Amino acid sequence: MAACEPLNHYLRAMEEMLKQINIHSEEISSFAASDADSLEQFRIKFLGVKGLIKAMMGDMKNVPVDRKKEFGQIMNGFKNLAEEKYESEKLRIRQLGAAPRSHLDSSLPGSPMPSGSRHPVTLMRNRIVDIFQRLSFTVAEGPEIEDDWHNFTALNLDENHPARDMQDTFYLSTDPAILLRTHTSNVQIREMQKHQLPIRIICPGRVYRNETISARSHCFFHQVEGLYIDEHVSFADLKQTLYFFVKEMFGEDVKVRFRPSYFPFTEPSAEMDISCLLCKGDGCAVCKRTGWLEILGCGMVHPNVLANCGIDPEKYTGFAFGMGVERPALLKYGITDIRLFSENDVRFLQQFSGV
Ligand code: DAH
Repeated sequence: MAACEPLNHYLRAMEEMLKQINIHSEEISSFAASDADSLEQFRIKFLGVKGLIKAMMGDMKNVPVDRKKEFGQIMNGFKNLAEEKYESEKLRIRQLGAAPRSHLDSSLPGSPMPSGSRHPVTLMRNRIVDIFQRLSFTVAEGPEIEDDWHNFTALNLDENHPARDMQDTFYLSTDPAILLRTHTSNVQIREMQKHQLPIRIICPGRVYRNETISARSHCFFHQVEGLYIDEHVSFADLKQTLYFFVKEMFGEDVKVRFRPSYFPFTEPSAEMDISCLLCKGDGCAVCKRTGWLEILGCGMVHPNVLANCGIDPEKYTGFAFGMGVERPALLKYGITDIRLFSENDVRFLQQFSGV
């Protein structure tokens, strides 16, 4: 019996080692280093000079000779497991370090996102259009490069009308006469030519005139044209439509007056004034002490204009109006120089974000 003692001792030692290998294999497999330090701890524990694997290798001497080969293979597998884990975790940790760290602190105020703002002229144009859309007017647009007929002739401006003067109009060619439209009234003509009656349109757009640039005038600016054509349209309809517009745009307290005027394309024609928004009619520098501000031109569409577009003036009548966009924008936003609208100075434009 005594002769078996050492053998039993060897077997027990080997069993103990196998148990250890099983336990630690699981630990190694599930290991994930949280940082370089914990990886180093792992290395020291399993692969270090005084580590578990080195110690177990030393214990190999206790393994019975006939089991040494088998046990050596088990040990090698165990060692490989630890080494591979170490290498793969080392790589992972390194990649984590190289990846941009997210310094997310949700308690910090967000960095402001620069948001664009609408141009004040666009804001004013949209306001104007929006009011007429509520009265069932729909938006129509036309070309900025126009022929003489649509810009002048069809609108009852005869050959010698002063508005055709070379000084006012930018001609792109003279024969045939192609020009930069001087007003949005060309859109009236183009829409009437479609012969889809009734017509109830609002036409915003840019127009060009050869004028000296100053604080008050520019060589290009914006207009909104309105046109309503149907049977039995009267001047009363025109007035009521514009009253509604003024109240919506400038407020209930603003007074309105119509002055007789002349436009070749309307008969009768009028200009509409509103009581000065700044002095409320008392008289100030902006209204040139008159208490009134001129806002738009309007009138009943001239029968010649209807006929020029193939619409029977005996059956149909209509009203039209045209207003500038810059002027009310100047008034509304308290701007004193029209040139600011086209200088693209971001400091100026930024003031209209959130308006
Ligand atoms: N076209 C005119 C201008 O540019 C504005 C205008 C006046 C338009 C009377 C109209 C109108 O439609 O009826 O000054």
